[in-house]
Formats: sequence, C-alpha cells, structure tokens
Amino acid sequence: NYSLVEPEEACMTVIVAICQNSYVLYLKEFQAKESDVVVASFPKSGTIWLKALTFAIVNHQSFSSLEDHPLLTSNPHELVPFFEFIFGGNYIHDQNLHLSTMTEPRIFGTHTPFPSLPKSIKESNCKIVYICRNPFDNFVSAWNYFNKIKPVIVSELTLEEAFEMYCNGIMDYGPWWSHMLGYWEESMARPNKVLFLKYDDLKGDVNQHVKIIAKFLDCPFSEEEASNEMIESIIKLCSFEKMKDLEVNKSGMYKGSIEKKNFFRKGETGDWVNYFSPSMIEKLSKIIEEKLNGSGLSFGSAT
Ligand code: PPS
Repeated sequence: NYSLVEPEEACMTVIVAICQNSYVLYLKEFQAKESDVVVASFPKSGTIWLKALTFAIVNHQSFSSLEDHPLLTSNPHELVPFFEFIFGGNYIHDQNLHLSTMTEPRIFGTHTPFPSLPKSIKESNCKIVYICRNPFDNFVSAWNYFNKIKPVIVSELTLEEAFEMYCNGIMDYGPWWSHMLGYWEESMARPNKVLFLKYDDLKGDVNQHVKIIAKFLDCPFSEEEASNEMIESIIKLCSFEKMKDLEVNKSGMYKGSIEKKNFFRKGETGDWVNYFSPSMIEKLSKIIEEKLNGSGLSFGSAT
C-alpha cells in the first residue's frame, strides 16, 4: 500500500518489484542503436499522441500516402512499443516482438525516469523526445484513467485520496517533479539528445511542434512536402478526434488487460477546473513552485 510510505520508500518498493522481474534485463542489456528514437513521458502526459506524431514524422517518406497509413489500423502503443512491456518488468513480457527484426529507425516508448534509463540509451547518440503536461491536467487524467482500469494493486481511489498521493509524489515511475526535472535538466545540458515538450504547448501550436520534432529527429519536411499539406495531414491523422474515432482504438484490448478506448478521454487542456477545489489549487500550485523553483521549468499560473 504505497499511501502508507514515504515517496523514497515507495520508489524502492517499485524498484525491488521491477528487479524481481526480467525488467532488469532492459536496464543492463539493451543495446541502443544510434538511429533509435525514444518517446519518453510521465504517464498520462500525452504519450500516445506523441507516439503517433513521432511515428508519422519519422516515416513520412515511407508512408507518404496517408490513405493506408499504419496508424489507421494499429494503436500507437502497438506501433511504438514500451520498453517496459518488451522486457517484462511489472507487466507482461512481449513475446511477439523481436528487437533485431524491427524496422529502422526503431521507435520505442518509455515511462522510465531519465537516470534509470539503460546506459546505452543515455550514452549513445540516439534521440529522446520527452513530453510532460501541467500537473493539474496530468493528475485529473491519471485519476480518471487509473480508476477506470482498476489495476490489481490499487483499488478505486477517491479524488481526495489520489490527490494526496500525487502531491506526495506517489505515482508509478516516481514523483512527477523528479521525472520532469530529470529530462528537463538533460535537455538543457544536451539539447541535441533530448527534446523537451509540453502537452499544453503542442495543443497551442501543433504545426510548429511537428516541424520542431522533425528537425530534431533529422527528418525535416522538404518545401514540397510542407506545401503539399503533408504536415496538416499528419496533424489530422494524429488528432484526438480522429484517433478516438478509429475502430482500432475504439474496441479491443491493449496487452490483454486495458481497453484501448481508455487511452482517449477528453484530450483537452484545462479540464482540471472541473475537479479542483480552491484548497487543492492552492496546495498543488505551492508544490509546483517549490519543486520546480530555480529549474527554469514552469507551467504558468493556475490562479
Ligand atoms: S498513457 O497511458 O500514459 O500512455 O497515457 P498518455 O497517452 O500519456 O495520456 C493520455 C492523455 O492524452 C490524451 N490524448 C490526446 N490528447 C491530444 N491529442 C491526441 N491525439 C490524444 N490522444 C490521447 C488522452 O485523452 C489523455 O488525456 P485526458 O485529459 O485524460 O483526456
């Protein structure tokens, strides 16, 4: 029961649980290729959206016709597999996936905090695109999702109970602030290695961000591609409305236990106002200020 222990202790519990599984193989043995792309995120920050965009951007020459694009028939979590699933970890070992036969550039997803990534990812020149989200919306999205999927180890939590945990940094993959700061600091130190994005900024101007991602991943759009509306088509293909409405995302299960439709809820910025009381706003605002103070990372003001 993570609510009874300090964040550090909860993290240790998770690490021990992880080590008891084959996840340790990933940490020790994964060999990154220079051309690999890693889509990293704190859970419920827009991972699936960034996976779809990254997949479409990286493959924009191979799938120039969007009529029969793989994103129309496969869920982004299937096209861009999570390391945590491939290597077992606290989930299910993905026996269908053979790393050696993956088409290059290989694109992986992960929620692993930066310091805990395999050495070969951190030390090679492979690229990491990270997405985070303002903690208000991140919390609301997580609360809705985890209550829907009702995981085995955590029974349904009230908003207040979940909020206490979130404020104490008790979440899968550790405190949200350490997760964000780990990637943020790396992106400051190695801007060619880590591209740090915010869900809210993408919502504000997705077109500009598609170009930024493409440039960062060394696969920019030519003038002709940009002018023949390829970028706009990719944005539409990966939009919340389109993805939520695709048969492949509306029905069926992901990894046998999560209904795929649960990855698409509202897809908006600012839904937190429907959940937060004035005291919750005050409390989370203070924590954000205290934890991110001096880092240069900010999310504007909620008040
Ligand atoms: S997960 O389970 O960690 O992979 O979840 P994640 O994808 O990180 O976050 C889920 C939230 O992202 C919203 N979503 C989208 N937003 C914008 N555009 C697209 N295409 C999109 N697809 C999913 C999803 O609805 C979750 O946010 P909320 O606020 O709960 O709606």
